[in-house]
Amino acid sequence: MNIMKNRILTVVCAAALSAGALAGVALAKQTYTPGTGVSNSPHNINNVVTNGDEYGRVCAYCHTPHHAIVSGAIAEYNPLWSHQVNEETYTPYASRTFDGGSVDNMQSDPLVGPSRLCMSCHDGVIAVSQHYGTAPAAGNGSAAVGDNWNEISVGDLAFGEGLTNDHPIGFDYDAVASTDKGNGTLGSGIKAANTQFSVTLAGTGVNYAGTHDRKISDLMYNNGSKNIMTCASCHDVHNNENPEDYLLINKQAGSQICLTCHKK
Ligand code: HEC
Ligand code: HEC
Ligand code: HEC
Ligand code: HEC
Repeated sequence: MNIMKNRILTVVCAAALSAGALAGVALAKQTYTPGTGVSNSPHNINNVVTNGDEYGRVCAYCHTPHHAIVSGAIAEYNPLWSHQVNEETYTPYASRTFDGGSVDNMQSDPLVGPSRLCMSCHDGVIAVSQHYGTAPAAGNGSAAVGDNWNEISVGDLAFGEGLTNDHPIGFDYDAVASTDKGNGTLGSGIKAANTQFSVTLAGTGVNYAGTHDRKISDLMYNNGSKNIMTCASCHDVHNNENPEDYLLINKQAGSQICLTCHKK
């Protein structure tokens, strides 16, 4: 008996129960054109589930003009949210060389800002097609489970790993950039937040196209006094400001995405 398979089956059951007896569905990676807007992306949930929104709405899976969700978990940042909110508590990433914890700049909630909104679908539990206060039909767009490559649930608590095995988020970027020493004596291995980078965006029509100069700070969630790193520091949820796949804000080739911030 394949141990991995067994583990996945167990989690499917656990997630199905907590999502209101919905069957866990493994969502396959979608094919789409980067930079062409949210409607043409996997974030148009109508493209992903069998029976989409009754009016064919796109934004509605995440936003609503009225009656937005009221939840303490997103009191800090709520862009008219319409999707059931993830209210779980997560243990942040930790390591001996990660400065987010040691310089005492970790936010009390690692999912502060847009990250908690992402984790309302990428948690492996909440159904992706849930919106406007209505539960989806059984089996339709219910959560995918797993912590494997190309699976939707990157921070699946059911596996016990949560966000501890994911790139750190939820810390003050400026504090880390000025204190990071890595394992050597060369000084900070992290670029200052005002560092510019240039990306040629693939967009068409009303979406961003052409070469754009941006600063690292543009990628940060600014809560008034701090530049906080979030899921949206690497991904553009609306499929606008990304040159290629995975909704990334920079290219994978030559690991340009990583070198946006790291001096390596
Ligand atoms: C899959 C979920 C999702 C969908 C669908 C979606 N958004 Fe968003 N939206 C977000 C998240 C998450 C944020 C938080 C900021 C961020 O991560 O960029 C956001 C932020 C925003 C903001 C405020 C910040 C900004 O970028 O200006 C606006 C305005 C917005 N969305 C409009 C829209 C519109 C209009 C649509 C439909 C055409 C749409 N969104 C579809 C998830 C979504
Ligand atoms: C430091 C940059 C970075 C941050 C921060 C980040 N991601 Fe990613 N993410 C990536 C890259 C790069 C990929 C592409 C896959 C790869 O290269 O391994 C990816 C892939 C994904 C995928 C595709 C499925 C998979 O796992 O392969 C999802 C979904 C995802 N990220 C969601 C998130 C969410 C949700 C957050 C916040 C909790 C987040 N990401 C934070 C860089 C990041
Ligand atoms: C309303 C639910 C929902 C929300 C909210 C949401 N996502 Fe997604 N996301 C999805 C679905 C569904 C897919 C497609 C999964 C699949 O088919 O594999 C997806 C796919 C992705 C992918 C993979 C894209 C690719 O190239 O395959 C990334 C990266 C991602 N989301 C990041 C994010 C980030 C970052 C946020 C928050 C800023 C976010 N998502 C918010 C539902 C959501
Ligand atoms: C938006 C900026 C940004 C991007 C993009 C980014 N990182 Fe990071 N990364 C950081 C910051 C800031 C830290 C915290 C550095 C520290 O404390 O030393 C970090 C931490 C890390 C760590 C953990 C270091 C430790 O000491 O434990 C690794 C490994 C890492 N990043 C690799 C990557 C890789 C690989 C990519 C590309 C897929 C990437 N990063 C993309 C900003 C970024």
